[in-house]
Formats: sequence, C-alpha cells, structure tokens
Amino acid sequence: MKEIARNFIAGRWVDGATGKTFDSINPATRETVATCTVSDARDVNAAVEAASTAFDGWRKTPAPRRAEVLFRLAEILRTRKEELARVLTMEMGKVLIEARGDVQEAIDMACYMAGEGRRMFGHTVPSELPNKFAMSVREPVGVVATITPWNFPIAVPSWKILPALVLGNTIAWKPSPETPFCGVKFVEAFAEAGLPAGVLNLVIGPGAELGEALGQHCDVRLVSFTGSTQTGRIVATEAAKTGKRCALEMGGKNAIIVLDDADLALAVDGIVWGAFGTSGQRCTAASRVIVHRAVREKLTALLVERVKRLKIGNGLDEATEIGPVINEAALKRMDGYVQLGVKEGARLVIGGEVHRKGDCARGFFYRPTLLEGVKPGMRVAQEEIFGPVCCLIEAESLEEATQINNNVPYGLVSSIFTRDVNRAFAAMRDLSSGIVYVNAGTTGSEVQLPFGGVRGTGNGAREAGQAALDTFSEWKTIYVDYSGRLQRAQIDTQ
Ligand code: UN1
Repeated sequence: MKEIARNFIAGRWVDGATGKTFDSINPATRETVATCTVSDARDVNAAVEAASTAFDGWRKTPAPRRAEVLFRLAEILRTRKEELARVLTMEMGKVLIEARGDVQEAIDMACYMAGEGRRMFGHTVPSELPNKFAMSVREPVGVVATITPWNFPIAVPSWKILPALVLGNTIAWKPSPETPFCGVKFVEAFAEAGLPAGVLNLVIGPGAELGEALGQHCDVRLVSFTGSTQTGRIVATEAAKTGKRCALEMGGKNAIIVLDDADLALAVDGIVWGAFGTSGQRCTAASRVIVHRAVREKLTALLVERVKRLKIGNGLDEATEIGPVINEAALKRMDGYVQLGVKEGARLVIGGEVHRKGDCARGFFYRPTLLEGVKPGMRVAQEEIFGPVCCLIEAESLEEATQINNNVPYGLVSSIFTRDVNRAFAAMRDLSSGIVYVNAGTTGSEVQLPFGGVRGTGNGAREAGQAALDTFSEWKTIYVDYSGRLQRAQIDTQ
C-alpha cells in the first residue's frame, strides 16, 4: 500500500508549504504506508485562520444540527470499521482486534456526544431578587488546537474532536507524525458526514515545530494535548504565555495490586492484557504489579507460563497477540530500561530482548518482559517505559501496596484484585489516581465516564463523559431583570 497524506484546510486537501514529504512506516515491516506532506508554521497559520473563519457559522448552527454530523459520522465509521482498523494496524502496529476497538471507541464517542446536541444542560436557578431570572449556558471556547499521539490514532482524537465540535468549537488538529494517514482517514469520514469547510482542519508534519506554532498562535483559545509529560509541560508553558486554556493528558506508571485473597487466574488475565496489550504502549498500561508476599511466587509462575506462550508478530495476522512497537528509538529506550533495571538489582524473569525471528526480522519487536525483585524507588518502577515491560514489586499488606502505588510521579490508573469488599472499598478511597479498577486490569475505559489522571498525569482537565463538556466549553451566566427598576444584588434584598 502506498498512499498520500496531505493537509485538510478550509475543506480542501492541500500540500504543506515546505513542498517536502516524509514517509509513514509500518512498524511490523518497515514498508511505507503513506507519503506525507511536511507542514510548517505557515500551514498552522492557514489552519487556524480557516478555523477562525468557520467559527461564527458553526457556533450559530443549532447544537442538534451539529450533532447530526456526529450521528452520520458514527454510521460512516461503522461501515468503514474494518478498513480503518487495517490502516491503523499497518501504520501503528497494534493487533487487529485492538485496532477495531480503537475505531469502536470513536463510534461510541460520536454517539455519546451526538446525544449532547439535545442535552448540553446548563442551570436555571432562583434569583435572590424579585422579577429577575438567572441561568447559565454552555458556550464554545473558540478555535481549539488538538495535539494527539500515535498509540490510539482514532480513539484519542475522537475524545477531543467530538465534544469540541458538538459544543460549537472549530479545530486545528495535529496528529502524531507517526500516524498521519490515520488522521487523513478520520478527517475523510468527517468530510463525508457533511462537516462544513473550515470546522476541522488537519496539519501533518514534525511534532515539535507544529505544536509550538499552535501553542503560540494568538487565535487558538484552547490546546488539548495527549502525549508525554515532558512535552505537555512545554505546551502548558506556551499556552500560559498567550493566556490560553490547556487540557493535558500525559504519562502514567499504573499498577495492579494483587492481594493474598485474589482470584489469581483472573489477575493473570488482567495483568497480561494490561501490561502487554498494545505492546505496553498505552498511557493506561500496567507497568507495575504490586503483589502480596504470600502469593508472589505463585503469581509469578502463572505469569511466566502465560507470557511464554504469547504470539509475537504482524498485527494483521489474527493469531498475533503482541504487535511491534512504534519505532527503532522506542526499541532502544525500552531495552535500555530493562538493562537499567537489572543494573539496579532487579531480576529478568522472561523477555528482555529485541525479537527479530522469522517474519519479524525487519520490524520493531520487543519480547514481553517481566522484571522481579523490583524495589519501589528504582527508576524502572518510577518512570514511564511505554513498552511491554512489567515490574513485579512485593508488598506485605494493602497499606504498603497503596503507599507504593501512590508514590510515583503519575496518577492515571490503579487496579486491585481482591475478594474482600472491605479492602476493595478502602482501596477505592486511598489509591491516588484518576481511574480505579476493582478485579479488572488497568485498561478498558468507557466513553461515558471521565478519563484522566492526577499529579504528573494531568492538569485537572478530563476527557470523555460529562467532564469533557467542561473541558471544551465556557460557562456563560445570564441574568434577566424584568422588574423595570435597578435592583442591586446583595444590597436591595428586602
Ligand atoms: C491511552 O492509553 O492513551 O482504557 C488511552 C484504555 C483505552 C484508552 C487508553 N480505552 O486503555
């Protein structure tokens, strides 16, 4: 397959201003998936200008009409689910069942946010004064810049673009340079659904340069970013300089706690899916397992038995369980972490090497890896690895496990396996993260609930659920005085 990925600005497919191209590569084979245009700040300016021009018409379009575009989009995505999933697997590597899930998440979000077209509740409340009416309504923020990662190339953009659109915002979207063709396919579906020109604009090219241009642009009112904590902090700094809002979804160092009364077979299922699904390249990946001393040996043995049998290969093969990682640099980074862990005193139980056998010879594959004897303070237990590497840490009690869970710079997901309802509720209260799972792994968020994390993971904003409406709108408070005289709040209260 050899495709072309161009920018989409003011309703037209156009080349970037540099006139140059780069290749988007299939990480399983190193074949070119698409030849992609290289944009620079000039293209960002054009995208923001198109979004600014389209804003007035779109914000005045009744919300139920805006929502109809989302309903149509959901239908188009449903029809094209298989085609999109295959593109996604080719460009990003995740196995087909997960790629289908990625597209499904966008379908679910389109349906959920389309429903908001006829809800989008504000408040009407009593006024303290007679003959006076008081209410609050949601307003769009304006031009929104969305900066999205490669690990969920359809789902994560949908979390940002769909609520932003139904609320009446217009958008300049910069997808990851690792997955520009997925961006093109997603935008094609919006165009087919009848989204007016200029409402959603796509700019493809180098992350740092385009991200900076979006962050600095005075006409952008909000930047919604998902990516590394390091880049997120740069985005926040740029946004602050021009008084923009920003919504950040950054790293994770998620843990699964396995207590001594847990269903170990179920815990193993949860750990394998959480740690090695998407080859560990999720911000919700289970990067640590905090296991009670009494079941540590048994759990480790069960895990090794399972991990040994995981099938690595091209995600297009339905039998594959572990696809490639995104690129060569990622391979080096995760291998470096494993070596560092061993140097820090951890023991390598299984994996810990690049996989180049057979059909995998040309791709970027890393063997699913378990490190045991990991201590909570080690760098492998503190830093985000973003690969199929899982650290086993021993604890004596729920209290100690909770402390280990919370004592990292991130706070996205925590999970606990226990059959004891008292300990489960204590964990729900005390685990410091934006999302908690009981008797399930760290992955599997649903679109109708908030998604996001505390501490280094976020900046308080949430995606998905009703919380996304707050992220992508401003409140406007309206008072209507129909008394025909000046009534002063807090003063004329008799
Ligand atoms: C991410 O890892 O960036 O719950 C998003 C999950 C997915 C989304 C993850 N639905 O893991």
